[in-house]
Order: sequence, then structure tokens, then C-alpha cells
Amino acid sequence: MIKRSIMIATGSYLPERVVTNEELCAWVNTSDNWIRQRTGIRQRHFADDKELTSHLAIKAARHALEMAKIDAKVIDLIVVATTTPDDTFPATATKVQKELGAFNGAAFDIQAVCAGFIYAIAVADNFLKAGQGSTALVIGAETFSRLLDWKDRTTCVLFGDGAGAVLLRVIDANSKDSWGVLSTHLHTDGCKRDILYVDGGPSATKTVGHVRMNGKEVFRHAVSKLSSVIDESLEANGLSPNDIDWLIPHQANQRIIDSIINRMKIPTEKVLVSIARHANTSAASLPLALDEAVRDGRVCAGHLLLLSAIGGGLAWGAGVVRFGIPVHSWCYSK
Ligand code: ACO
Repeated sequence: MIKRSIMIATGSYLPERVVTNEELCAWVNTSDNWIRQRTGIRQRHFADDKELTSHLAIKAARHALEMAKIDAKVIDLIVVATTTPDDTFPATATKVQKELGAFNGAAFDIQAVCAGFIYAIAVADNFLKAGQGSTALVIGAETFSRLLDWKDRTTCVLFGDGAGAVLLRVIDANSKDSWGVLSTHLHTDGCKRDILYVDGGPSATKTVGHVRMNGKEVFRHAVSKLSSVIDESLEANGLSPNDIDWLIPHQANQRIIDSIINRMKIPTEKVLVSIARHANTSAASLPLALDEAVRDGRVCAGHLLLLSAIGGGLAWGAGVVRFGIPVHSWCYSK
């Protein structure tokens, strides 16, 4: 027998305020046409001033707990992937733990920017497989709007706020059972730090800072690195693109997604895309797209998912997951 982390439920939350490209034109020198043609984005959600990353994370977590019909007390591990924590310390995950009353384990944040959710899944999966707990809550949550420089039109039109969550539960599985997180693949290249970063931080500048980006370089690396990590994860599982039910790519730019799927020969019908409505929500992008598709019935139990993301660092990664609960292993009680 081996241990597998199965994905038992998803949840998400988007702030109420929707800002369309047209509305953005009131304070940014841009146009709906430019944004849509270059990125595919039509609108984004922005948190209001009093709405913090932890608020978004807690709402997404509650949404997932309701779907799983489990009590927060069974959670052994909370991992929040975020680039926009409420405070420099302690971790945003500690607020999530407090509000949910999930006091039976550890809670911490992970910082891998837009790749944060894949990194968080990999960490939680490895904790569970190592026997350090039975149930993990993994959240990607961002108030990325706080990092935007409204005078830099090449970046401020690209991002939005939101949160998504998944619950992982460990099971004893037959080594041939292919349910749950089947593999994760993480990469970082610190030499590319300067093509996408925030020009602030408590140690370097004592300020929060704003997003700075060399868009063309990020685009080039995103296409090549995501294509290569998708290949790597297919090969590791002996799969071809045809075996995948859904590719869930990081929602950064429709043109990046199109370039990858053309290169990998993955049909568009198998790709979850929410960029037009959510814009780039960084660590929240994958769980938001996943939860939406689970709730509208596109993603079903037994579907094979390939998730992939890249962000500042550069940090990138992918994960192969057979979604849902294998019937014979149903067991929520602790
Ligand atoms: N509205 C109108 N015009 C604009 C805007 C805007 N918001 N931003 C830039 N322009 C203008 C520029 O000033 C320039 O004008 P010029 O030719 O008169 O000088 C022109 O548009 C072209 O600018 P470029 O920067 O060359 O535009 P490009 O075609 O490279 O597109 C973009 C920019 C969309 C940022 C692209 O480089 C890109 O998608 N890069 C990927 C970056 C990305 O997705 N980042 C997300 C974060 S990282 C991640 O999540 C992976």
C-alpha cells in the first residue's frame, strides 16, 4: 500500500467589486481593445480597502469545507500561498486557522508568487504522504491590486484579486490506484529574478513596493518553461496529452495559454480558461479556475487534471491529479 493525497473538495471567493476594462480607462491610459487583444482580459475583481487577503482566503476555505461536509477541526495542516499577506508576520495562514477554529495542526504561508498554489499542493502532498497529518487545507489567495502601480499601464491592467482552496485527504491506496495527487514538479531559476519582481520589501526598502515586469521576457519564459514542465509531468506518469481530461494553466494571459496548447497539441476544449473574467490572480488563479469548473460540472470525480503555473522568481511547476474521491476509500471521520 502507498499513501495518496486525494482532492476531496474545492472552494473559491471573488470580491464583489468588478472592474471592467472600460472602467479602468477612467484612471489608466489604456483601452478595452488593447487589453483584450494583448491578454484576453475583460474584467477583474478588486477587494475593497478593508477586505484583506485573509478574508478572501477564509471565505474560499469555508466554501471548500461546506462542499466536503467536514468540520475544520479535522484539518492538520493549512498552507496559504500568497504574495500579498495581510502582515509581514505572522503568516496569513494563522488568521485562517483562528477564524476556522482549525487548531489541531500547523499553519504557514508559502511565497512562490503565481506558482504558489502548485508549490503549496506539493508541500501539503508531501506532508500527508510522509504521515504528518491526514487532512490539509491548501489555499491560494491574493489582493494583488495592492501591489499595482497605476502609472505603469503595462502591468496594472493585468491583475485581479481572489482566492481558491482545496482540501486534501490522505488515503492508503494500492500502488496501481491512480487517484489524487499523482506527481508534482517544481522548478526555480533565481537568475531570472529581475524580469518580474516587486521593488519593495521590509528588509530592502522598508516599503511594500510595486510590480515591475519585463513583459516580453516573461512571456517568452512562460511559454517555454510551462511547455517543458507539462511535458515533464506527462512523461513522469507515462501519459500523453490525450490522456488528460483538463489542462488548468495559470491564468496570466490568453496568448500565453494559446501558445502552450498549440505547441503541446492540446485541444482548446480540454483547457480551463477564466482569464477573461478574473484576470491574473497570481496564486489564486488555478484554484479559482478549478473550483468554478467543479461547481458547473465540467470537472468531475475521476477526471485527470494537469495544473501548471509560473511566476516571479522565476518559479514554475506542474501537478497531475486524478480529481475526487475513489468510492472504496470514502472516509471523512478522523
Ligand atoms: N494600454 C495601451 N497601450 C499599452 C498598454 C496598455 N495597458 N501597455 C503598453 N502599451 C503600449 C506600449 O506603450 C507600447 O506602445 P509603443 O509601441 O507606442 O511604445 C505598445 O503598447 C506595446 O508595448 P509592449 O510592452 O511591447 O507590449 P507587448 O505586446 O509586449 O504586450 C504584455 C505587453 C501584454 C504585458 C505582454 O508582454 C505580456 O503578456 N507579457 C506576459 C506578462 C504576463 O502575463 N505577466 C503576468 C505576470 S507573470 C505571470 O503570471 C506569468
